[in-house]
Amino acid sequence: MNKERGNFGSRLGIVLATAGSAVGLGNVWRFPYMTGEDGGAAFILLYVGCILLLGIPGMVSEFIVGRRAQANAARAYDQLSGGRPWRLVGYLGILTSSIILGFYAVVAGWCLQYLYASLAGQVLGDTDYVSRYFTDFSTHPVKPVVWGVAFILLTHVVVIRGVRHGIERASKWLMPILLVLLVVLVVASCSLPGAMRGVEFLFKPDFSKVTGSVMLDALGQAFFSLSLGTACLCTYASYFSKETRLLHSAGEIALLDTFIAILAGLMIFPAAAAVGISPDSGPSLIFITLPNVFQQAFATVPAVAYVVSIMFYALLVFAALTSTISMHEIGTAFFTEEYHLPRSRSAWVITVAASLLCMLCAWSVGAFDSLRLMGVPLMDFCDLLTANVMLPLGGMLACLFVGWYIPREVVYDEFTNGGRCHLRYHRVFLFAVRYVCPICIMLVFLHQLGVV
Ligand code: TRP
Repeated sequence: MNKERGNFGSRLGIVLATAGSAVGLGNVWRFPYMTGEDGGAAFILLYVGCILLLGIPGMVSEFIVGRRAQANAARAYDQLSGGRPWRLVGYLGILTSSIILGFYAVVAGWCLQYLYASLAGQVLGDTDYVSRYFTDFSTHPVKPVVWGVAFILLTHVVVIRGVRHGIERASKWLMPILLVLLVVLVVASCSLPGAMRGVEFLFKPDFSKVTGSVMLDALGQAFFSLSLGTACLCTYASYFSKETRLLHSAGEIALLDTFIAILAGLMIFPAAAAVGISPDSGPSLIFITLPNVFQQAFATVPAVAYVVSIMFYALLVFAALTSTISMHEIGTAFFTEEYHLPRSRSAWVITVAASLLCMLCAWSVGAFDSLRLMGVPLMDFCDLLTANVMLPLGGMLACLFVGWYIPREVVYDEFTNGGRCHLRYHRVFLFAVRYVCPICIMLVFLHQLGVV
């Protein structure tokens, strides 16, 4: 192994850091609001289907490229393709993850601000007050930008500490705390009177709601949630050890990620149903409706509402941080290795670029609603462009690369750790990455475009 590159120190560290990247606002903010808008249980079934059929093979493909090449995303593709233009897949990944970091930091900044506001007791009030609070805050020209940029700087501080002491240590602490907090909130939410309607919404499918765009949403959400399609997993896999069993790790992470998304649903929808809030209220679901939920649900004991809301926003901040770290790391690793910059300097490149985009995105959904592209606010545009186009495309290219381009022996060697594990699944995997994934992703795209 290349001694100069960082690597994860333990098996647990590998799984937690990669799972930390996967588990984020995608699970706790995006998944519930997409589920709410796209009709509940039917969307969840499609989503789980995408994870199993396309997500896991896609993850393993990125793992193979990264661990084999032991290099940043662009160089990894470059090395394995012998100078062919596959390098562009790496560039695409670095671009995509930086765009994601830009808009993701806006929402992460909202979470950070809400954590502060919960501590200061500012989000306690009646329904009107809470929604006015969100509107006033998010349309302010300065505040959301400051919180978003603060979040990027927080990420920056962890990333420059390096792989083992920064990323791995942070994930080891944050992931278990997150799980415990989530379970406490699920129990609180499900024990409210009338909560069962929310549970039903989550688990009783209505297939009449399934359209082409719901399918594309499910695909995009699956990839977004697994951090798949930006070479993020490829970069992390370059820090894996030769002993890491790739399929096994992908399976574990996908399972944990889906479990947490469903838990987040179980935290939000039963509580929303209990206090009569509509599940399809969109991206503001957790910011406008939940503070109401906390208060109405725990009206008799305001101290509980106070503590629960602090816990909830702390959870979101933790989840978001382990994810932004991974988005940041892709670009940082790239600039450090390709341009021989010190790690801290290359981290600044990403920090500055992402902060600028974060500012524009925050303004586009707040102070300046003329910041639009193709008729939607810049923030929504970045979200849809990355999740529904760039990620499936990046994931599909990773599958094609591993399935058709790199030598079979390399794939065999990495997939089975030199013939020591997963022998039975090797053929299934190859079939999936050669045919199933590319064809399914193409079909969803073509369907959305109205071709099939
Ligand atoms: N998966 C993360 C979430 O669910 C978001 C994320 C982190 C991501 N790194 C990524 C998405 C890379 C796409 C690509 O919140």
